[in-house]
Amino acid sequence: RFSPWGRIEPVTSFDVPPLLQALSGQRPQRLPVWFMRQAGRSLPEYKKVRRGVAMLDACLRPELAAEITLQPVRRHAVDAAIFFSDIMTPLKLAEVGVDIVANVGPVIEHPVRNASDVDALVAHEISDASPISEAIALVCAELGEATPLIGFAGAPFTLAAYLVEGRGTRDHLAARAMMHADPESWRRLLEWCGRISGEFLKVQVDAGARVVQLFDSWAGSLSRADYVEHVAPHSAAALAAVEGRVPRIHFGTGTRHLLGDMAACGVEAMGIDYRTPLDEAAEALPGLPLQGNIDPALLAAGWDALEAHTRDVVERGRRAPAHVVNLGHGVPPDTDPDVLTRLVDLVHSL
Ligand code: CP3
Repeated sequence: RFSPWGRIEPVTSFDVPPLLQALSGQRPQRLPVWFMRQAGRSLPEYKKVRRGVAMLDACLRPELAAEITLQPVRRHAVDAAIFFSDIMTPLKLAEVGVDIVANVGPVIEHPVRNASDVDALVAHEISDASPISEAIALVCAELGEATPLIGFAGAPFTLAAYLVEGRGTRDHLAARAMMHADPESWRRLLEWCGRISGEFLKVQVDAGARVVQLFDSWAGSLSRADYVEHVAPHSAAALAAVEGRVPRIHFGTGTRHLLGDMAACGVEAMGIDYRTPLDEAAEALPGLPLQGNIDPALLAAGWDALEAHTRDVVERGRRAPAHVVNLGHGVPPDTDPDVLTRLVDLVHSL
């Protein structure tokens, strides 16, 4: 390829960021890597700017949310930023009573247990998402073309599990009971969650996000039959909100039995948790780029163990058409950030 100045330009270049190359099914020159929960309590600069500001308030302050989004990119030189927000932010934007309590997680003021609770919930709409659009515009202005921003949303089941239970639980019994006790209310609840999640994804893409990830963190508690009948159509509806505009990644934990059905919701790549080796996932998902799946526990197991594990993850990932290196779940809050920086360097050297 010749430039107007007559010099030969390299054909493979970083014009297309490695993350976007991988998500389109190609093998970039450099393996892309980013971390779920890369922004947050593992970073002293995060703890400093978050002091005295409640989690969901921080998400709605554009300058603060933009600064926190950029912190891990500056520190670790990861291949993507992920928007600093929460799966609960769209509920807050729709004026549903929700708080995020430190070391507990989301707490819902009025848990949704019956048809009239669903009636009350579905009357809520997102009226003004400008704090999100403004934050993303600030992030994209600093990132430029080289580092893409990933937008995200919670999948309808994970949102509904919080809405029904009122807070995080292990087995999501009340949510799974409602699915069968009152399937019509469940359907209306999930339909609303899917619409809100889809709108949240669309707002982020409209403002400049170049990839999205749908987090169905609790889907692993479902049987395959329940997932297919009572959940998957609503996840598909959320993902359809940005279809054809940006690559879509779908992630859940404990979802080995659901991988094919999650992929069938309409995605360009699948996020794999640390329980399923990537070569097995590649066999279950032929032709699909995979993201994952370094066990977060290994971040605290010493460098030699982490390096050996990471090399194994990358080796197994070669069975997929393309691989985005990530953890198999979020960064634990007590992680030494220098370990993450060193891990990025290791992945880039492989
Ligand atoms: O990955 C990132 O860096 C982007 C930001 C992000 C956060 N939450 C920030 C956050 C993302 C993508 C999420 C998604 C999220 N939130 C999920 C799905 C992914 C997963 O981890 O399974 C879920 C289930 C939630 C709900 C939630 N929000 C929980 C369980 C917690 C932890 C509560 C605690 O204090 O331990 C939160 C709070 C939260 N979300 C924090 C951050 C940085 C910590 C808040 C703090 O610093 O006080």
